[in-house]
Amino acid sequence: MDIRKEYLEFFKTKGHEVVSSMPLVPDDPTLMFTNAGMVQFKDIFTGNIPAPENKRATSCQLCVRAGGKHNDLENVGYTARHHTLFEMLGNFSFGDYFKEDAISYAWEFITVNLALPIEKLWVTVHDSDDEAFNIWTKYIDPSRIMRFGDKDNFWSMGDTGACGPCSEIFYDQGSEYFSSPEDKMGGDGDRFLEIWNLVFMQYERTKSGELIPLPKPSIDTGMGLERVIAIKEGVLNNFDSSNFKPIIEALEKVANKKATKESIGSFRVIADHLRACSFMLSQGILFGNEGRPYVLRRILRRAVRHGYLLGIRKPFMAKLVDTLVSIMGEHYVELKENSNYIKEQFTLEEERFFKTIEAGITLFNEELENTKTIFSGEVAFKLYDTYGFPLDLTEDMLKDKGLKVDLEKFEELMNNQKAMAKAAWKGSGDTSNEGDFKALLEKYGQNEFVGYTNISYSSKILALLDDNFKEVNSLENQKGWVLLDKTPFYATSGGQNGDIGALEIDGHNIMVLETSKFHNLNLSKVDVSNIKLSQNQKVEAVVINRYEVAKHHSATHLLQSALKMVLGDSVSQAGSYNDDLKLRFDFTYPKAMTTSQIDEVEDLVNSMINRALAGVVEELPLEIAKKKGAIAMFGEKYGDVVRVISFGGDVSIEFCGGTHVKNTADIGSFYIVKESGVSAGIRRIEAVVGASAFKYTKDQMNKINELQAEIKSNDLLAGVKKLKNEIKELRNELKNAQSQTSTPVNEELIGDTKLIVSIVENGDLKKIVDDSKNANEKVAILLLQAKDDKVLLVAGSKNTNIKAGDWIKNIASIVGGNGGGRPDFATAGGKDISKIEEAKKAALEFAKANL
Ligand code: ALA
Repeated sequence: MDIRKEYLEFFKTKGHEVVSSMPLVPDDPTLMFTNAGMVQFKDIFTGNIPAPENKRATSCQLCVRAGGKHNDLENVGYTARHHTLFEMLGNFSFGDYFKEDAISYAWEFITVNLALPIEKLWVTVHDSDDEAFNIWTKYIDPSRIMRFGDKDNFWSMGDTGACGPCSEIFYDQGSEYFSSPEDKMGGDGDRFLEIWNLVFMQYERTKSGELIPLPKPSIDTGMGLERVIAIKEGVLNNFDSSNFKPIIEALEKVANKKATKESIGSFRVIADHLRACSFMLSQGILFGNEGRPYVLRRILRRAVRHGYLLGIRKPFMAKLVDTLVSIMGEHYVELKENSNYIKEQFTLEEERFFKTIEAGITLFNEELENTKTIFSGEVAFKLYDTYGFPLDLTEDMLKDKGLKVDLEKFEELMNNQKAMAKAAWKGSGDTSNEGDFKALLEKYGQNEFVGYTNISYSSKILALLDDNFKEVNSLENQKGWVLLDKTPFYATSGGQNGDIGALEIDGHNIMVLETSKFHNLNLSKVDVSNIKLSQNQKVEAVVINRYEVAKHHSATHLLQSALKMVLGDSVSQAGSYNDDLKLRFDFTYPKAMTTSQIDEVEDLVNSMINRALAGVVEELPLEIAKKKGAIAMFGEKYGDVVRVISFGGDVSIEFCGGTHVKNTADIGSFYIVKESGVSAGIRRIEAVVGASAFKYTKDQMNKINELQAEIKSNDLLAGVKKLKNEIKELRNELKNAQSQTSTPVNEELIGDTKLIVSIVENGDLKKIVDDSKNANEKVAILLLQAKDDKVLLVAGSKNTNIKAGDWIKNIASIVGGNGGGRPDFATAGGKDISKIEEAKKAALEFAKANL
């Protein structure tokens, strides 16, 4: 039975709209990841956005519970039922049905569709919820309805938001398999498996912790798909089900060993983490050092460490991706489509960690030997800082030994480091005026952006702020910020730089230097001189250079399309910037583009420009926009209306709030100025269009003209080739001439021994040393030469006290190298050319002291 399908079909017949899984990254700063099916509906529950016409929905939602309020990371591998990523089946009522129907639907699905035996089912309710208790007695014997407190039977999405008492359905897997004291209802054991949580959404929890009743009581349920599949397949552990088993078998092949009772935990951790990391990567999360990217890194490094425990010493996750795709790729096409990209990202990140893991584990083990109860916070910090071991990885390594990290010390060192980093960032423009902006927003409301259709507008000054964002009545001979009632100035967002321009007032022009958004207020920075600007004044607000900005922004969209055509669909946006002079586009791709790929992309964009494709702006509900194939950044949620920009129908179609040209022909022409790497797996293209493109080509032409004048030929290529040949010939001549030179300068007599220490620019050092040994009865000679960023050293000794090997060893270290050899002849190499003089001096001193 395809349980996912069965569930969605069942609720469809009960009048629910089937809604697709929302992205793992929600547009909610209070939430690390989408951690439940209800996240995409949270604003509907709280009444912030109106409920859709159909007040019933159902979904199968991918959830991540790692980092944030619901965090299962540390349990994975140690229990039969926890996962960092799992699928949650859910049905939702937005002020429509409540407890009665929620319970009846759940019971019907479990006992009829899933046909689970009634005698194995138990339920729990909140200890204050008599209503739910009474409803349940219609279906199940009261002795199998338990009451628990807030800890077990009150559910919240995060620290704030919709929440309420809940009722959970449990499946008893049997006392014959589980007999620990924790294997009781409400205990931590695996015998009683929670399979479905019915939340009776009744409250909204505010920032201060207060519970406010919701406008309409609603229903949010969540059933763990992995658990139900395991039950239906008759296995006692999710990891033994068809969802995970093939991954574990593939890993056995990669590790070249069978899982045993001792090692099975590591196999399970890797299988779990493979799923979470693959989906996170496929949805655009990258490995990094903060926030979600750091959670991704932590999960992967935990998997790598378990791979290490299994004896694996090189990247291996990529080898498991195809197996995962064969299990989940049909339902989640993004996994299939991005599988090559996922493999590449895995390998790059694993290579990084494998470089330090060995040294880190050695340090860890050394410290472990000295540890009685608490593991040193200093060492944990060093593991983190130098060897890339996330704190929770170190904690995980200590878990089975029953040891803990000295967290206080660790935090102290971490805070010191953060303070230092912060000090280094002083003056980065970080302002902490959150409260002021909120007050302004309450006082004046959100101001309207009228710049999609106007590049000048008669506006009124609602408020003025000084340079420190304090509200003032007027500005005079100073810089400050203006809040206009309606503003044509675009505020920096979505990669588009904010507008500049002027405020015209009584024949004066006040420069607008930048425009930014602060807590939804669109503010423009002004430089007021020779005039006074006061609250409530009328001004003519005029945008400058918007057209050039729009050209660059539209070209960025065309570029993204072209990149996907040339490099494949797995390319996804990792950042962008555009202003009136240039554009920059960062995207995921594992290696440098070839010249012909760059050419092809450039040609494609120019052909899109030359085809004069019409630009269309539409505001569409998210679901419809997605159906049209719009490229979305992650973060939109069900019910959102999004702005979609398209060129030439579906040549380019993206979600975007920026300003654009009406027709691609307006862009003029497009030149890629540079392609480079930003970080592992991320490339960057810099390009110019419009007036900048003209300037760029003009500059190039000027350079060509100058070059032609310089080489006195109009045929640059032939001219340069000729020059190169001449240089080659001259070099050869020089080399021949130098190989004749064999007498170095700088020689002196110490007693009857000849001492030669010299830097020789050209010539064969060995030959010179041999020659001078042949020519002299007693000689000590050391020569140095800088060649291709390296220092060469050759030493010889004949009938003296100096051993050439010792001598050269002593000197080589000065130029960052080492070497040695026989007492009569030795060679060495070094890396630091800047120390060559110093080395020469030291060689002389050494010789004089030893001769
Ligand atoms: N939102 C509820 C949960 O995650 C159903 O358990």
